[in-house]
Amino acid sequence: MEISYRKILIVGGGSGMGRALAKRCLEAGAAVIIAGRNEDRLKGAADALGHPAALDAIAVDIAQEAQVAELFRRIGRVDHVVSTAADIDGAYELLPALDLKAAQRVVESKFYGPLLLAKHGAPVLAATGSFTFTSGVAAYRPAARGSVVAAVNAALEGLVRALAIELAPIRVNAVSPGWVDTPIWSFVAGDKKDETLGAMARRLPVGRVGRPDDIADAISFLLGNTFTTGTVLHVEGGHRLI
Ligand SMILES: NC(=O)c1ccc[n+]([C@@H]2O[C@H](COP(=O)([O-])OP(=O)(O)OC[C@H]3O[C@@H](n4cnc5c(N)ncnc54)[C@H](OP(=O)(O)O)[C@@H]3O)[C@@H](O)[C@H]2O)c1
Repeated sequence: MEISYRKILIVGGGSGMGRALAKRCLEAGAAVIIAGRNEDRLKGAADALGHPAALDAIAVDIAQEAQVAELFRRIGRVDHVVSTAADIDGAYELLPALDLKAAQRVVESKFYGPLLLAKHGAPVLAATGSFTFTSGVAAYRPAARGSVVAAVNAALEGLVRALAIELAPIRVNAVSPGWVDTPIWSFVAGDKKDETLGAMARRLPVGRVGRPDDIADAISFLLGNTFTTGTVLHVEGGHRLI
């Protein structure tokens, strides 16, 4: 991968896709800041990622505007901002059991969070820089129990197109993952995670579910391709075809 960036903030970098992206970026020689709410998770990820001179880990809740503003004051100028953050705990429910607070946490982590990152990050971003946010295939192939996630993914993609105009020449894109084996599945499938992902793999044209690095690869493309903005890059193993 050609390195077209020097300093990158990855919110959600403590696990799953964000952590896979952090690994790639560090190996490519970038300075990386991983962020998330849970300090222990961040510390564990930082220890595993290595590259201590190039890696910083900062605790932040991107649903809190004051924390987002402080984050950018602390890190200063940055080349690219990525968010893979999502809090879906308790939100995968049929409507009679849906807890509004859980639904609000999805909106806060996947919609308002990116909005706040754009608001406070754009002033310190390089003109050649970019934002990359993470939507998901549920916007296109919704499932029962997943209404809130489906709706928020779709809303985020609308936001991405609008911000690509408002913040230009800064580029703004979304990656839309399909089913990817990450810790988030514990919230969706509990102890049936392996069984659920195995059944999904058999349904997909590519015959497997995604790996975090599949998505990190796609985000790397969005960071580096300076002719791509306002787009949604689908990385879902053919899920939208079935
Ligand atoms: N895995 C899939 O199959 C799949 C499919 C479609 C779309 N997606 C989307 O892909 C993205 C990445 O998912 P993943 O599977 O890599 O999930 P993951 O491993 O659970 O990572 C999500 C990260 O977001 C952080 N986070 C949550 N709320 C936050 C907040 N308010 N502020 C800051 N950080 C926050 C969490 O850390 P803390 O708890 O420490 O804050 C966690 O590290 C998500 O947007 C998800 O909806 C995933």
